[in-house]
Amino acid sequence: MSQPLAAAKQFPEGFLWGSATAAHQIEGYPLADGAGPSIWTRFAHTPGMTLNGDTGDVACDHYHRWKEDVALMKELGMQAYRFSVSWSRILPEGTGRVNQKGLDFYSRLVDELLKNGIEPLLTLYHWDLPAALDDRGGWLNRDCAEWFADYGRTLYRALDGRVKKWVTLNEPWVITDGGYLHGALAPGHRSRFEAPIASHNLMRAHGAAVQAYRAEGKHEIGLVVNIEPKYAASDSPEDQAAVRRADAYMNRQYLDPAILGRYPDEMKEIFGEAWPDWPAADFDLIRQKLDFIGINYYTRNVTQANDSYPLRAGPVKQPLGTYTETGWEVFPQGLTDLLVWAKGRYGNIPTYITENGAAFFDPPVAEGGRVRDPLRIDYLRKHLSAIRDAIDAGCDIRGYMVWSLLDNLEWSLGYSKRFGIVHVNYGTQERTPKDSARFYSKVIASNGGALADPLPY
Ligand code: BGC
Repeated sequence: MSQPLAAAKQFPEGFLWGSATAAHQIEGYPLADGAGPSIWTRFAHTPGMTLNGDTGDVACDHYHRWKEDVALMKELGMQAYRFSVSWSRILPEGTGRVNQKGLDFYSRLVDELLKNGIEPLLTLYHWDLPAALDDRGGWLNRDCAEWFADYGRTLYRALDGRVKKWVTLNEPWVITDGGYLHGALAPGHRSRFEAPIASHNLMRAHGAAVQAYRAEGKHEIGLVVNIEPKYAASDSPEDQAAVRRADAYMNRQYLDPAILGRYPDEMKEIFGEAWPDWPAADFDLIRQKLDFIGINYYTRNVTQANDSYPLRAGPVKQPLGTYTETGWEVFPQGLTDLLVWAKGRYGNIPTYITENGAAFFDPPVAEGGRVRDPLRIDYLRKHLSAIRDAIDAGCDIRGYMVWSLLDNLEWSLGYSKRFGIVHVNYGTQERTPKDSARFYSKVIASNGGALADPLPY
C-alpha cells in the first residue's frame, strides 16, 4: 500500500528547520560600541561600488532589534538560526585587543535564542574582514591563518558552552571570485594572480580555525560552500571541457582540498602561470576532519565554452526557464543532483542546507499586513521536495536554513533585491511576514508534511 502523500513528504525525526542571515547584511551600526571598520564598511563608502551608494550603516537595524527578531523567529516556529559574527566588532584591529561590548552583543543574542528554544549556528566569517587586516594584505597575507584561528579561539572560549554548531567560512568561492578576481565585492580587486592566493589562504585559515576548535571546543564545526551544478550545453568536446573547468572552479576548488587534501587538476589549466605550486605541508593544515558541511544552493548553470578569462566557460540562458530577480534560473532538480554528487565524491558527511531562497519582485504590503509572494512559496516548496528526494536517495541531510529571515542588504546590489520571507520596511523598520513565511511555518510544524498540501494561495 502506498504511503499517504503528507507522510511521504515528512522529513527524518530531528531534522532542523531554521533561517539564515549574515552580520553585515542585517545588523547596521557597524561601528557601534567600539567596533572597527570592515572591508565592507570601507567598500560601500567608496563612490560607485554599490548600487545607489547603499551601505550597511542601518540595514535592518538588527543590532538594536535583535530581541524583536528572535521573537519573530519564535512566532514562526523556527528551530534554528544561522547568523554570522562581525570580526571587527570582536577585534576592532583584527587581532589583539578584544572589544567586550561586541562580544556581549552576540552573547545576549545567543542567550535569547536559547531561551526561545532556537538553536544557534554561528558562522565566523561571512565576508566582512576587519579593514585593519586588509591593510596588512588581508587574505593575501599567509598570516591570515593565524589571525583567523585567534579570532575563532576568542569566540569558542566565550560561546562554546552555548553554541554547538560552528561554521568557519561562508562561501570561499564568492569571497575570492567576487573580491579578488572580478572585483564586484569587497575588497574589489581584479587579479588572476591574487585569486588563487586568496583562495588558498582562506583554506589555510579554515584549517587553522578547525584545529583551534579541536583544542578548545566540544561540539561541531564545518565549512559552508555554495555549489551550482554544471551541465554541459552540448556534447561537443569544447563544451565538455568547459563544464569540467566550471565545475572544478566553483564546486571542487574548496571541498577537494578540505576533504580530499588536494586541488582538482583543472585549476592549473584554468589559471595557467597564475596557479602556484603549493607547499605540500599546507594540505595537512587544510584537510581537517569536518563534523558537517553546509551547502548553499540557489541555481544551476548550463555551461558552454566561450572566450571569458580565465575560465573560458559561461552560462547559457534557458529559453523556457523561470528566472529570479537576480537572474538565476529556478532549478530544484539541481539540488537533488548536487547532494547525490557530493555524497558520491566526499562520502556521506552530515549535511545542512545552510542557504536556499530567492529574490522575487514582491508587491507592497497590503492593508492588514499581507505580502503575497506565491513565486517564493513555489520556489521553497520545490526545493524542499528536492531535498526530500535526496534524503530518499540516502543523503544524510540534517537541516535546512532558508535564505533569508529578513529582506536585507544584498551586498553590491544594495537594498534592490528582497530575499526575505519577512518583508522589511527600510523607512520604519517594520517587519511583516510574507505569505512564504506562513507557508514555511506550516512546513516546520508538520516536519515537511505540509509540502503535500494543495497550494493555499
Ligand atoms: C550569500 C548571501 C547572499 C545570497 C544571495 C549567498 O551567496 O551567502 O550573503 O545574500 O547568496 O545572493
